[in-house]
Amino acid sequence: MTDLAGRRAFVTGASSGIGLATSRALALAGARVAMLSRNLDKLKPLAASIGEAAFALRGDVREFRSLQIAADHLKKKWGAPPDIVVANAGVVQTGEIASMDPAAWAEVIATNLTGAFHTARAFLPELLTSKSDLVFIGSIASYQSFPTWGAYCASKAGLLAFARSVAAEVRQKGVRVSIVAPGAVDTEIWPGGKKPPAEKMLKPEDVAAAIVTAVSADRRASYDEVRVMPAAGLL
Ligand SMILES: NC(=O)c1ccc[n+]([C@@H]2O[C@H](COP(=O)([O-])OP(=O)(O)OC[C@H]3O[C@@H](n4cnc5c(N)ncnc54)[C@H](OP(=O)(O)O)[C@@H]3O)[C@@H](O)[C@H]2O)c1
Repeated sequence: MTDLAGRRAFVTGASSGIGLATSRALALAGARVAMLSRNLDKLKPLAASIGEAAFALRGDVREFRSLQIAADHLKKKWGAPPDIVVANAGVVQTGEIASMDPAAWAEVIATNLTGAFHTARAFLPELLTSKSDLVFIGSIASYQSFPTWGAYCASKAGLLAFARSVAAEVRQKGVRVSIVAPGAVDTEIWPGGKKPPAEKMLKPEDVAAAIVTAVSADRRASYDEVRVMPAAGLL
């Protein structure tokens, strides 16, 4: 069920939290994994710790060119494009809208929503040439809204709408699109004072397991929208 031998994966936001756990889980299941984030010094030793199946790429999902370069590089390195792409990179900025810095709003939308578009836009032409998987990391905030999380909720609700549109475009063409939407996960993304207690949260490995299940399922089945919630938490 989770045999990914021969598969080639690309994960954005791979230096921490869900992206790192997903890279590890994909490699453990047999895939080769290209890991992308902005800080190469941080990412390189993490990729090395996974082993030969993994390698690090510097890139910023806010810049389309960054994703194009990554796509070209992978095709050369592997002699074939990835057949699993995980658009995971994300940031949080919180604050009441009445006083929110427009630059903070712009950063959240540019990373979480436009960054996912950039990732899909750069890799879809190649994903469409084989049986492949495109996974977007949504959130409980794709479905529910919370005070002071307006920018984040808008980015993740927008991502859900975008991912559903992509899914409808490509599902007859061999690309499975999954939206994996976790509740609270114990990672570095949480702003100070907002983080629930650890025992009320998921671990990044729980989300990684859902992603591996989705991409390794028989091609008959598509895990279109997967909500993974902490069993003991409220969100
Ligand atoms: N933690 C939760 O409770 C939770 C719940 C639901 C959904 N999510 C979603 O899960 C995803 C991963 O979050 P996480 O919790 O694992 O957070 P995290 O531990 O803070 O990891 C975020 C990752 O994204 C990278 N990143 C940020 N901006 C980037 C950019 N412009 N270009 C490339 N990489 C970028 C970071 O590395 P660099 O800074 O080095 O680039 C890091 O590797 C996000 O989309 C988040 O919204 C998280």
